[in-house]
Amino acid sequence: MNSFLLVFVAILFIIAAWFAWRYYDLKRRVDEFTLLIRVKPESLPTDVKGIENLSNAIASLKAIFDLRLSNLASDNARLATVLEQLIDGVLIADMNGMIQFANPAAQKLFETSDVIGCSVTEVVRNHQLVVAWRRCQQTRDVQSESVELPARRQFLQLIAIPDTHAGGSLLLVRDLTRVHRLETVRRDFISNISHELRTPLASLKALTETLQDGALADPDAGPRFLGRISAEVDALTQMAQELLDLSRIESGQVDLILAPLAPKSLLNSAADRMRMQAERAGLKLSIKYENNLPNISADKSRLEQVLVNLIHNAVKFTKPGGEIALEAESVLGGVRFAVRDSGVGIPEDSLSRIFERFYRVEKSRTSSGTGLGLSISKHIIEAHGGRIWAESDERRGSIFYFILPFAKK
Ligand SMILES: Nc1ncnc2c1ncn2[C@@H]1O[C@H](COP(=O)(O)OP(=O)(O)OP(=O)(O)O)[C@@H](O)[C@H]1O
Ligand SMILES: [Mg+2]
Repeated sequence: MNSFLLVFVAILFIIAAWFAWRYYDLKRRVDEFTLLIRVKPESLPTDVKGIENLSNAIASLKAIFDLRLSNLASDNARLATVLEQLIDGVLIADMNGMIQFANPAAQKLFETSDVIGCSVTEVVRNHQLVVAWRRCQQTRDVQSESVELPARRQFLQLIAIPDTHAGGSLLLVRDLTRVHRLETVRRDFISNISHELRTPLASLKALTETLQDGALADPDAGPRFLGRISAEVDALTQMAQELLDLSRIESGQVDLILAPLAPKSLLNSAADRMRMQAERAGLKLSIKYENNLPNISADKSRLEQVLVNLIHNAVKFTKPGGEIALEAESVLGGVRFAVRDSGVGIPEDSLSRIFERFYRVEKSRTSSGTGLGLSISKHIIEAHGGRIWAESDERRGSIFYFILPFAKK
């Protein structure tokens, strides 16, 4: 009987020990979880049922946590794509000024790679921008600074924003080179146009005053001054017309009437219009083209205007006895036209600027003209989907090329 009781007590003891072990094991695990998810450990239930409930709660919390994690991962991926595609540069620096993140645009703008771990000073390499970033670090206020980097021909704007959590900063870098250039062009345009207007207006004023002062009655000077007034008014009218043309073409208001056109007929009709002028200036005008050139897609009258502008320039800038050649040949993707002269040539540093509105090389050299012809020509060629450029050797003359796409069959 006694031994039976002993066995019974032993079995009871084993069962109790098993429950106790289960209980403590579960409690340990829950404590670990609790620590992980930062729930106050003292508020934990201590009975088995409560612990089971807690375990279920933790399981469902984990499911929610996993879902949030995956949402966060997809948000992160989206943000990474945006930062990668952004044309503005983004840099994130820690409180010690060490770069923690840089998007591709920032690396391109500062012409560096592997910037992570480098200092802001090393990456930015500009005193004013570094000072702006330091100001932001000290004041914890947004700071902005714009600088021109002549070596890189860039105009950059930096906005430094304090990072409220980590004590570092977010640096936004914008490339304002294009905007800045457009602004300069606009400013130049206004100052150029006022300059161009001032000269003929001053002559008109002087001529009318002379006439008023008695020259009108003079049988010789009267008609001569009136003739000069008329010439000045013609020049002003031409300038107004050219400006109007230019602004219409630039704003896309001019609809091109495109039709297949044989390059040789374009060369011939422009040459016919300019032959007399060239001969009067003592110049030989020749035409050369490949046989069987494919047609181009063109608005004939507009392209004729381009060729006339180019030939007119060649006539103006070539001394008597010189030559002007009009050429056309087939190249990859289209027909390349050329207007070649044996004139005074264009200096190397002006070649890229002659297509700008009002640009003239050494204005004294030019007897007439407002500097709009090439600008208009460029717009017409580009509206045709073509390209225009010039090459020149100051000893041998200039060549103006333009390529126009073939007509679609
Ligand atoms: N064939 C050329 N040879 C030498 N210089 C040239 C030639 N063509 C153009 N240029 C230079 O480029 C400048 C700009 O030419 P553009 O045709 O735009 O103006 P322009 O001839 O002066 O005036 P516009 O054509 O408006 O009457 C000229 O003033 C001249 O300095
Ligand atoms: Mg011209």
